Amino acid sequence: MAHSVQRPKLARWLAETNDVTQTFLSAGLIPGLINMAGGLPEPTTWPASDLSTLAAKAVSEHPGDTLAYGPLEGLPILRDLIAARFSAPGLSLTRENVLITTGGMQALDLIGKVLLDQGGLIAAQSPAYLGALDAWKPRHPTYRPMYLEREGFDPVAALRGAQFAYTVPNFSNPTGRLVGLEDRHQLVAAAEATGTWLVEDDPYGTLYYDGAPLPRMLTLSGKGDSTYEGPVVYLGTLSKELAPGFRIGWAIAAPEVIRALVTAKQGSDMCTSGLCQRIAHDAFAAGLTERILPNVLALYRLRRDALCAAMADHLHGLFDWEVPSGGMFVWATARDPELNTDVLLREALAHGVCITPSSVFDPEGRNRRSIRINFTLNDPDKLAEGVRRLAKATLAASAKAA
Ligand SMILES: Cc1ncc(COP(=O)(O)O)c(C=O)c1O
Repeated sequence: MAHSVQRPKLARWLAETNDVTQTFLSAGLIPGLINMAGGLPEPTTWPASDLSTLAAKAVSEHPGDTLAYGPLEGLPILRDLIAARFSAPGLSLTRENVLITTGGMQALDLIGKVLLDQGGLIAAQSPAYLGALDAWKPRHPTYRPMYLEREGFDPVAALRGAQFAYTVPNFSNPTGRLVGLEDRHQLVAAAEATGTWLVEDDPYGTLYYDGAPLPRMLTLSGKGDSTYEGPVVYLGTLSKELAPGFRIGWAIAAPEVIRALVTAKQGSDMCTSGLCQRIAHDAFAAGLTERILPNVLALYRLRRDALCAAMADHLHGLFDWEVPSGGMFVWATARDPELNTDVLLREALAHGVCITPSSVFDPEGRNRRSIRINFTLNDPDKLAEGVRRLAKATLAASAKAA
């Protein structure tokens, strides 16, 4: 009975989602499916026994930090540790620059609450992370897409008039692309010239498989020894560096921005789990993230190579793609202009493989030619089998489109 009652408010909210998103969110229930859609880490990379030791120690030695309501801004020891970890020559951070958030996702949500007006303009690297689009949807923003890799891209024109700019400079979700050093400098200069906040969302910044890490825009925008006051709002997370279940993230920004985000957090969750913060602090302090990183990089590099080799064998002629130098995704664009990747998703599911179609990364849902393929979750044999299934599904979808 309750199910048949029409509630206009809920109906409006539910109508905001599309059935492509629904389809791929429920795909996990299909038996035997090879899931190459999510952005999921490999569970064996999580140092479970170290973390359980740290968890037990955290509760027994720090019951106040772990079991009480904590400070809104986060535990001071973790804020200090993050400030020290991200400070660099020319970039001076203190705990006033740091807010601990419940995952990077919460930081995106709080940014929408604090920096964005109803219908406000966001200059966003395009295509854009689905979670960010979802977080800002209640404000019904307007998007100005930024195609940083295109010849003639003008960062000042892109940022002017926007309430903030949004980028994932290290191995973007969904394209896996890296924003080059010159573009990073230019975005920072444009943010300073236009007075626009520059959100640097960086979950993949440790996952470099080839070459040395590029400097963060946060670091490039540092101005010396006084507390950071620059335009970058940097977002970090433990999700890809350690484990996503902790739901620990952090925002680093000018103290004024942090204070505003804290006010929004008060109406959101009051505080991030003290237990998880304490474990995060102790894991960083013990060098656990540095200890596991070489194995994580070796495993993911192998999987990236396995996926790209299988794509070269089976998707050659059907898609174009670039081999990413880090992160978790390959972005592939169909050669057949008639191939709609929303339709391909359904065909792929029927063939036992799941990929993410590009429409979900476009605020208007218009981009229907590309797909995002994850390579971190499955071993090389599964990746190869997933690609074989995808090739068959692509031929079937193209035949139907013709
Ligand atoms: C670009 C980007 N930003 C933010 C997040 C949020 O991550 P979390 O909430 O797990 O920290 C993700 C997760 O995949 C992501 O890809």
